[in-house]
Amino acid sequence: MFQSIERRPPDPILGLSAAYKNDTNPKKVDLGVGVYKDEAGSCPVMRAVKTAENTLWQTEDSKSYIAQAGPELFLKYTGELLLGADHAALKDKRAAVVLAPGGSGSLRVAAEFVARGAPNTRIFVSDPTWNNHLPLMSSAGLKLELYPYYDYASHKLSFDKMMHKLQDARQGDLVLLHGCCHNPCGADLSREQWQAVAEAAQRQGFTPFVDLAYQGLGDGLVEDVYGLRLLASTLPEVVVASSYSKNFGLYRERTGAVMIVAGTAAAAEAAGTQVVGTAREMYSVPPAHGAALVALVLDNPALRQEWDDELTEMRNRINGLRAALVAKLKSKGIARDFSFIQHEKGMFSFLGLTPEQVKKLVNDYSIYLVGSSRINVAGINKSNIGYLADSIVAVL
Ligand code: LMR
Repeated sequence: MFQSIERRPPDPILGLSAAYKNDTNPKKVDLGVGVYKDEAGSCPVMRAVKTAENTLWQTEDSKSYIAQAGPELFLKYTGELLLGADHAALKDKRAAVVLAPGGSGSLRVAAEFVARGAPNTRIFVSDPTWNNHLPLMSSAGLKLELYPYYDYASHKLSFDKMMHKLQDARQGDLVLLHGCCHNPCGADLSREQWQAVAEAAQRQGFTPFVDLAYQGLGDGLVEDVYGLRLLASTLPEVVVASSYSKNFGLYRERTGAVMIVAGTAAAAEAAGTQVVGTAREMYSVPPAHGAALVALVLDNPALRQEWDDELTEMRNRINGLRAALVAKLKSKGIARDFSFIQHEKGMFSFLGLTPEQVKKLVNDYSIYLVGSSRINVAGINKSNIGYLADSIVAVL
């Protein structure tokens, strides 16, 4: 059965971690996988999460299965974090929230749920997008359509081209949107642009599918869901896949959620049961640990504040690094303008290098980044920023 199976090449993003680990160059820099790093280059367990883990260790008295949809408090706080406690969709019980294994698990379950109800549904996906979006959507049976999103020459959104392509999207189609901190380019829709997308969805009838993996790492917890909240206020139906990997640092705990906003409470409730049923057929029940931590933190005002404070520190650090890299490159006297990096949001930006230049950075300078020249800004620190800037200048 397995005689003729071919070896699969390493994942273009996750594979970078192993390569970095095996590199013996003391100057090596890891700007690959999108995990938050502190000044010391570590991906820390957040302070409030550590405290919650202690509480959980003392109070958890069973490892029996949890409810299929996830713990009630987790679902309540996730809905509120995404939409705001006063949002009409929550008040009217038109939003079903279901715990799923991380952002990817949420994306896949949501896609699978839609595809089972409506096989061959088209999903419009930004070009570029996160590498894993395409297989996550297509292996669920959704049919991919790409819409232009980013202009590599000007480092700006191709908004007109995007909207032109989205004119093809109609009732029964999904449009996948990055809620904030676009992965990989860091260029987000402005408030006016979100408004235009909401109006197009209203006019044409397509359903937005919002991937929200970086809430709190762009401009703020509330600011980063401006677009989602607008869509959920103006449209009857929205699909959301959210993740606590980055904003709670719960990467390995696989903690995320699917949210289905529907036209009526009955429709939302029914959709929730279908999402749960879909998950049952894929992996049965969700992992408990991360969801329990999120609920403990968000349910305790002091812990919640501590989490919010640390998230703010993380966001400020990333934004500071963006400015510092731009300044450092400028100080090298090069002609190329990198100031766009300062205006982009979240963990990622493209450096705008060719594949050959990226290869040189990896092979000759031990600077690890995705082949598209995407960097994880959080991997920069005071001790590597000079070497990084010199190396970029050298490959240019
Ligand atoms: C990334 O884009 O680097 C992260 O979302 C990690 C991953 O799974 O690819």
